[in-house]
Amino acid sequence: MIILDTKKDYKNHINLLKSRGEIISLVPTMGNLHNGHLSLVKIAKQNSSKVITTIFINPLQFGKDEDFASYPRTINKDISKLKKLNCDVLFVPKSQNEVFNNIDNLKHLKAGPKGSILCGNFRPGHFDGVLKVVYTLFKLTYPDLSVFGLKDFQQLYLIKQMAKIYFPKLKIISAPTIRTKNGLALSSRNSYLDKESIKTAPLFYRTLLDGINNLNNSNNVEETIKYITANLEKNRFIVNYVSFLTTELEKLKLNTSERKILLSSVKLGQTRLIDNIEFN
Ligand code: PAF
Repeated sequence: MIILDTKKDYKNHINLLKSRGEIISLVPTMGNLHNGHLSLVKIAKQNSSKVITTIFINPLQFGKDEDFASYPRTINKDISKLKKLNCDVLFVPKSQNEVFNNIDNLKHLKAGPKGSILCGNFRPGHFDGVLKVVYTLFKLTYPDLSVFGLKDFQQLYLIKQMAKIYFPKLKIISAPTIRTKNGLALSSRNSYLDKESIKTAPLFYRTLLDGINNLNNSNNVEETIKYITANLEKNRFIVNYVSFLTTELEKLKLNTSERKILLSSVKLGQTRLIDNIEFN
């Protein structure tokens, strides 16, 4: 695996790969790689001839009181995991300047109304920050395809929208959420959970599954949201939101053939968890 840490070396290497006609896939991450990330790399591997993974903890997507400083940094472990999967290139910028040398040039990247609902409502500016870094990485790489996890459904949706405008030839692949045996969606932030919370956390997904059953029986969205919220609160989750929408993140009308999605974010202690389930 070739490891590069400056924009200049990275761009040179990309040019070399392109001159050889390689099909390039890009897997942007913030490191602390778990099996969810590794599944993205595997999917990228199956769909391209060269896989590039990036590890960059993007300060623009963290709020003032969020965990930028304490976000887990495990670069040596990450490198050995990527080597095992035969990832071809790792770009791990050595400073923020290697990615953002002129943030003013990125002013036009706004997540818009669908970036200020759900998680965006609780994390103002978060998705603008995500779009700025992903756009910048796309611009540096011009990959043929890029892979993102469905666990961050709203993020994936907004990245797809942005890519459609600025990178129309780029294929975005949506990768299924990877869960523990108990159903907890893998996330780097799960490492913040203490022993007690690790036991409780899988109830998040189970409560959402049960909520979909409840909706199928009751056909009443408002009542089902109350039902899910009460069940989560019983188990010490602090509910940020529970929301039923279409997969276009539009208001849901029941009895339509549109794909539907239940999305939720909770806090367990200090740890934010998000999850979602698509259904018909
Ligand atoms: O999902 C993530 O890990 C990050 O939001 C991403 C897409 C790598 C951008 O920093």
